[in-house]
Amino acid sequence: MYAAELSSDGRQIEIRTPDARARFHAIWLRDNASDAETRSAGNGQRLITLDQIPEAIAMSAAVVDGETLQVTFQPEGKSVDYSLAWLMEHAYDRETQAERGWLRSELETWDSRLMAAVPEADFEDAKSDPQILQDWLGKIERFGFGKLTGGPVEDQALMQVVDLFGYVRETNYGRHFEVRTEVNPTNLAYTALGLQAHTDNPYRDPAPTIQVLYCLESSAAGGENMVVDGFKVAQRLRAENPDWFTVLSEHCARFEYAGDAGVRLTSRRPLIELAPDGELIAVRFNSRSVAALTDVPFDKMELYYAAYRRMSQIIDEPEMEVSFRLNPGESFLVDNTRVLHARKAYSGTGTRWLQGCYADKDGLLSTLAALRARAVEAAA
Ligand code: FE2
Repeated sequence: MYAAELSSDGRQIEIRTPDARARFHAIWLRDNASDAETRSAGNGQRLITLDQIPEAIAMSAAVVDGETLQVTFQPEGKSVDYSLAWLMEHAYDRETQAERGWLRSELETWDSRLMAAVPEADFEDAKSDPQILQDWLGKIERFGFGKLTGGPVEDQALMQVVDLFGYVRETNYGRHFEVRTEVNPTNLAYTALGLQAHTDNPYRDPAPTIQVLYCLESSAAGGENMVVDGFKVAQRLRAENPDWFTVLSEHCARFEYAGDAGVRLTSRRPLIELAPDGELIAVRFNSRSVAALTDVPFDKMELYYAAYRRMSQIIDEPEMEVSFRLNPGESFLVDNTRVLHARKAYSGTGTRWLQGCYADKDGLLSTLAALRARAVEAAA
């Protein structure tokens, strides 16, 4: 089913199946060889540096044998076997994504219509059943947030949520922080205002990538939590006016926090962050901590503010928000590089006590990938 054809100079090879074709370079194949001299059989790590591969590398022979491709490299005279299925899975010979702000296919943007299907799991189920944990973490990857119900109502229970997938990230606010609100009608303005949806701590570099908020007490009316998909906001901004999207992604904002003695956190990052190939990778939005903007060219400053204003308005639109109430023992987790969160205003008296902490998204995605690999192995 596989066929392979070398170019006349041996610097490229084309692999064909009945319904696909992909070209590979000799240097790429040699660098990705998995023989015992190139990669450790134990941990899979590469044992050679690029300088140990000749610059003039070429292929002198390529033989397909069933599911395996054997390539001989010159001037080393070295033969290496490749899984053809692995090669086609890792093919890079494709059209490049042209659209600035494209998203990985694993992600799905959303608005208030997701309210009917908030990603949710029971804490005890997620703790005891790897499939339920995998499904919940998979939804967090896809949608950028998830809720847990049925957790213990005890101090620092949020650490048990983090234990499901990774590790706490400690900051100057501690391993965790308290969010206590005494709702008193005579002093409503100071304690119970709603907050605009935001991402946390954009003044850090790197910013925390996961935030967990855990409810321990909730007797006040109102005060629902809400989340907004920052990637959906960026897509809408781009659809309304590509120049707004461009100006916010091509120039850095500045953020700062100096509210505690001995702390002066600053960062210089865009509100909408793209990878070099245009992939939308992060949104930062927090009006409370934007510093003086000094990296936007003079001729673009008014355009920048128009774009920033519109981004803020889109974030505030009711059709963008998903809201939910957190009862004691319930928590939610957001991907802080994507999903904005906020608390709505209170309408009565009472108390509300939440605990929050940060954790790392790479650890969450690692746990998810390991659970998926284990499920595939178990099914095989
Ligand atoms: Fe926050």
